[in-house]
Amino acid sequence: MKQALLIVTLGVAVAGMVYLVSISGNVLHDLRPISELGQLTETALGEQVQPTGKVVEYEIVAKPGVASLVDGRQTRVWSYNNAVPGPEIRIAHGDTLRVVLRNELPVDTTIHFHGIRLPNHMDGVPGATQKPVRPGESFVYEFTPPDAGTYWFHPHVRSSEEVERGLYGTLVVEDAVSEEYSHDVVWVVDDWRLDADAQVAEPMDHPHDVVHAGRWGNVITVNGSTRETLQARPGERIRVRLVNTSNARIYRLNFGDLPARAIAVDGLYVRELFNPNGFEFAPGNRLDVDVTLAQDAGGQTFTVSDDFTGTRTVLATIAVTGSIAETPEFPLPHNAAVPSFAAPGRKPAVEFVFDGGMGSMMGRGMMSGAEVGVWRINGKSSPAHDAVSLPAGSVVHARMKNLSPFDHPMHLHGHFMKVIARNGAVQETGYFQDTIVVHANEVVDVALVVPEVGSWAFHCHVLEHAEAGMMTFIEAQ
Ligand code: C2O
Ligand code: CU
Repeated sequence: MKQALLIVTLGVAVAGMVYLVSISGNVLHDLRPISELGQLTETALGEQVQPTGKVVEYEIVAKPGVASLVDGRQTRVWSYNNAVPGPEIRIAHGDTLRVVLRNELPVDTTIHFHGIRLPNHMDGVPGATQKPVRPGESFVYEFTPPDAGTYWFHPHVRSSEEVERGLYGTLVVEDAVSEEYSHDVVWVVDDWRLDADAQVAEPMDHPHDVVHAGRWGNVITVNGSTRETLQARPGERIRVRLVNTSNARIYRLNFGDLPARAIAVDGLYVRELFNPNGFEFAPGNRLDVDVTLAQDAGGQTFTVSDDFTGTRTVLATIAVTGSIAETPEFPLPHNAAVPSFAAPGRKPAVEFVFDGGMGSMMGRGMMSGAEVGVWRINGKSSPAHDAVSLPAGSVVHARMKNLSPFDHPMHLHGHFMKVIARNGAVQETGYFQDTIVVHANEVVDVALVVPEVGSWAFHCHVLEHAEAGMMTFIEAQ
C-alpha cells in the first residue's frame, strides 16, 4: 500500500518535472498540457465570423489556354478563366461564397479551397467528399469562410499535373484592417519547369522527381510574371499576401532592406509579429507581411528574393516613386489569443510515419513512381490507407515521423495545426499552420485541431509525393 502510494507520488512528481522542463527557458503564456485543452475557443483562431447574409457568386471555367510567362512567349496552360494565376476572389468576412465550376478541360477535376474550414462535402476531394467533375460537367461550391485571411484554391484530381499546368486562384477573406492599407496585394509564387520552347516540360510525375523532392522547375513567376513590380509612394503602408502554389519548391524568403513584418501565416494572424527574413515558405503556405515605407524612401527599389538553394533569385520588386503619402496609422494586426501548448511527455494520441522514395523503387524498373505508389504513411500508399478516427473539434497531440531523406510539407484539410516540438525540443511558433514541413529524418510534434465531422485528407503538399501515395484521411466523428 505504502509502496503503491510512493509510486503514485513519484509519478506525479516526474510528470510535473517533465512539464516544468518542457517550459523552462521559454517565455510562454497560456501554457497548458495539450491533454487538458480538449477543445479550442473560437478566438484562438481569430475574430469570430458574423454572417452578413450576402452571397458572392463567381463562375470559374477550367480550360486549356495560353499564358505569357517568360519574355512575351506563349506557354500552353490549363487555367481558370483564361488567366494564370486564376481569379483573385475577394469577399468580406461573413460573406457566403458561391463558386460555379465549369469543367472544359479534357480531364476530370474538382476545386479544393486550401486552408478554409468548411463543410466536408465542399472540400473538393474526389472519392472522399464528392465525385470528380467530368469534362463538360459543373459543380457548385458554397460556404461561409469562418476565418478572415489569405487562402487559395486548386484541383484535387491529379494535382501534380493540374496545378503544374496553371490551375490555381486565390481567395482573400477581408476584415476591417484590410481596408486601412494603402495597398493590399497578393503575390502568387509558382515554380515552372519549362522546356526550350517555353512549354510545360513533359513528362508529368517524372520517376526521378517522384522518388526525390518532387518537380522543381527552372522558372519562378510571381503573379504569372518573372518581373512582378509593385509601384508605391514613400510613406505608404502595404499588405503583401504571399501564396506558394509551387508543386514542390520550398523558398527561404529574403526581404532585404524592406521593413517587413509577418502578421499572418496560412491565413490566420500570428500572436507576436516576427521578422519574416529566412521564413521557410513551403508549397501550400501563405505569409502576410506588413510593409511601412519610410517617408524618405522615394527613389528606392526593394527586392524580395529566395535564398533556399544558396543562389539568390529575385521574386518581386517594390519600386518607390512619387510624392510622399500620409502613412495610415493603425496597430499591427495580430491575435493575442493564439494558445501555446506544452509538449506532453507521454505518447501522442496519433502518430504518422512517413517512408518510401528511392528504396521503394528497387526492382521496379522504370515504372513511374506515381503508378507503383512509392510513398507511404503508416506503411500504406494511397489510395490504400488506414484512416485515423478522432473526435471532431478536439485538439490532439499528433506526431509526424519522417524516415526519409526528403522534406515533406504536410497539409491538413479543414483545420489547423500548431508545432509544439521538433526532434523533441520544444518549439513555440506563435501561430497556426495548415501546412507544416517535416524535414528529412525529422520528428515533429503538433497540436492538431480535428476538423468538423467528415473525412479529411491529410497529405504531403509536394504534389508528386501525394500522387505517389502520400495521402491519408482523418475521420472526424
Ligand atoms: Cu492544397 Cu489537399 O491540398
Ligand atoms: Cu512529401
